[in-house]
Amino acid sequence: MTDRLVYLYAVMGMSIENLVRQDIKRDIGIVFVNNPPVNAITLPVRRAIFDTLRKFEANDKVTKCIIICEGKTFFSGGDISEFDGPPPPPHLPDLVNAIEASRLITVAAMHGNCFGGGFEIALGCDYRIALTDTKFAFPEVKLGLIPGAGGTQRFPRLVGILKAAEILASGRAYAAKDMLECNAIDIVVNASLLNAAIDYCSALDSKPTPLSLRSVESADLTSLRDKYRQPANAPLLNIEAASWAVTEPFETGQLKERTLHLELRQSDQSKALRHAFFAERSALRPTVIHGLKAHPLNTVSVIGGGLMGAGIAASALIADKSVTIIEQEQQAALTAYSRVEGILVSAEKRGKLSSPLSEVMNRFGAHDAIETIETADIVIEAIFEDLAAKRALFSQLESCIQAHTILSTNTSYLNPEEIFPPALQNRCAGLHFFSPAHIMKLVEVVKLEATNPQTLADLFQFTRDLNKQPILSGICDGFIGNRILSAYRRQADYMLADGAFPDQIDTAMRDFGMPMGPYETQDMSGLQIAWANRKRQQERRPTNIRYVTIADQLCEQSRFGKRAEAGWYDYVDGKQTKSTHVQELIERYAHSHGIERQTFTPDDIQSRLLAAMINEGFMIVEDGITEHASHVDIVKIAGYGFPRWLGGPLYYAAQNMESIKSAMNRIVEQSPNSWTVSQVLTQET
Ligand code: NAI
Repeated sequence: MTDRLVYLYAVMGMSIENLVRQDIKRDIGIVFVNNPPVNAITLPVRRAIFDTLRKFEANDKVTKCIIICEGKTFFSGGDISEFDGPPPPPHLPDLVNAIEASRLITVAAMHGNCFGGGFEIALGCDYRIALTDTKFAFPEVKLGLIPGAGGTQRFPRLVGILKAAEILASGRAYAAKDMLECNAIDIVVNASLLNAAIDYCSALDSKPTPLSLRSVESADLTSLRDKYRQPANAPLLNIEAASWAVTEPFETGQLKERTLHLELRQSDQSKALRHAFFAERSALRPTVIHGLKAHPLNTVSVIGGGLMGAGIAASALIADKSVTIIEQEQQAALTAYSRVEGILVSAEKRGKLSSPLSEVMNRFGAHDAIETIETADIVIEAIFEDLAAKRALFSQLESCIQAHTILSTNTSYLNPEEIFPPALQNRCAGLHFFSPAHIMKLVEVVKLEATNPQTLADLFQFTRDLNKQPILSGICDGFIGNRILSAYRRQADYMLADGAFPDQIDTAMRDFGMPMGPYETQDMSGLQIAWANRKRQQERRPTNIRYVTIADQLCEQSRFGKRAEAGWYDYVDGKQTKSTHVQELIERYAHSHGIERQTFTPDDIQSRLLAAMINEGFMIVEDGITEHASHVDIVKIAGYGFPRWLGGPLYYAAQNMESIKSAMNRIVEQSPNSWTVSQVLTQET
């Protein structure tokens, strides 16, 4: 035990002994682990389980052993904070091997999450019993890793190579019933896990053949490999490691697994993925809400049931909230109702509803009467992006809401302080969802100067209830995400004018790892909102900043994107094709501005667009719009598809500082007076 750990546990009011409690019922020794909040398998936990197991083994009266966890979950995984240094003994593989080799008949009794190292401990046991709502996963792949304690070698020997490789490569969580179906667990019970485990254990009279001594039939993994071939390398490595269970004896397979696991801990991808993992968690608890207990917001009024309003309403309904949509007139309310119903029908098909569709629909209504807002705990406004309309709406609401109702706006670019009545601003905030709102994880919670910390705490909990990733943002044009997007698009437009075409830029950015390029993304979401914003900014825009009008020209020609069947691309029967019309328009623009078009390589395009994105991200940090640079990373990963295995743009910049600085110099040269360069990128290194 290191001094630091002893100290940490002391501060938490826990002694090491508290981590594991033991009991003996008849001939069954029971190991109760209690390492809140999620029973992570830290060094002291490993040590304490080892010691308890040894004590039971030394006791002649004990022939069986149950491993069970207290609190809300079984072991939810290893201790990720240990991954940066050499792992201290006893190592998890040794513990799992010791459980498997024990003379005792061992039973894992599971509830909550049985993840990663927790799953590996369960696989070391002879039998597995779980509560119905237990979830099972090997999430290591999401951290750029493979399991390191026999998971890739024992799991295929239990459920077959195909099933195991899929579960390992996906990192997905599976329900207990799925695990029962593939024989990964032996029995599922509804309640009283401990009693059920004791009854089950009492009836057992022998140890089965340990998993490590079983063999596994080979299978063709080609299509699985094709499915998981991607720039992040861990999914394929998980499949590879699982295949060793077929080709290698357990001892060799486990050794290879451990070696690769330890190697991957040091890999760039795993470090970046771990950065993203910790950044997501830290973003959930910004300093301003520390120590505050959130009030539940269960009754939701969404005003405006268009694209965003319907998606937000559906998200809230899926999260068991009661929701009313308010539209301007009855026909629009009916349309909004059907739109939400459509989303819920497909959510039900994908197994996303926790209760039958009819019950969910009973919690939902759509009206044209604003008075229905009376009972709302929270109002989410999602009407047209028009300041006057939003202001008028909220002043109309002032007389119908309760004293505790929280008011929020889904505005993309408008200043929320200009939207809400000043007297109410302590309980107002921006709540910026991304499209499609029932799918996209990110929500920017935009703090006004007057927003009460309690309001923010409630909104953070509300967005988490909706299974979203909230990020705190201050006020600036476009908040965090769209402000960076504007800079990114501006630089893309400069390259269009100077020599590139939309498909070249899109392809380069897809090759970098973005799910879509900037122009196909604009076509998908529609060019109108950004156009309206550019028009709004026109008066404030300094005249010396280079402004390329190609996007405006497309909008003037009603080429608003895919829904208009024309945008940066042509759409023939919904299929995206290069547009000669747009190419000519770009060339004409360059010609009329005396620009001699140059060639941009994919590398030029990628480095310049990244520099624009990263520079804006650093300025957002320097302007105090976000609490932490890593939160910018999460905005770009969760809201804009920045490759997670690169850790987000600012993490990426920290690894590639010199090349980003030189790309920034090039874009400043390309468009003089058009960029303010962040302090980070101007500093000498
Ligand atoms: P939309 O045009 O699809 O829907 C707006 C809806 O509001 C329409 O159904 C309209 O009938 C209704 N409406 C207008 N005035 C109203 C009033 N006074 N009372 C009740 N209903 C009213 O617009 P969309 O795309 O859903 O955007 C809504 C808001 O969300 C805007 O502020 C937009 O900037 C923001 N947003 C849009 C995103 C997008 O990708 N479309 C992404 C994130 C935010």
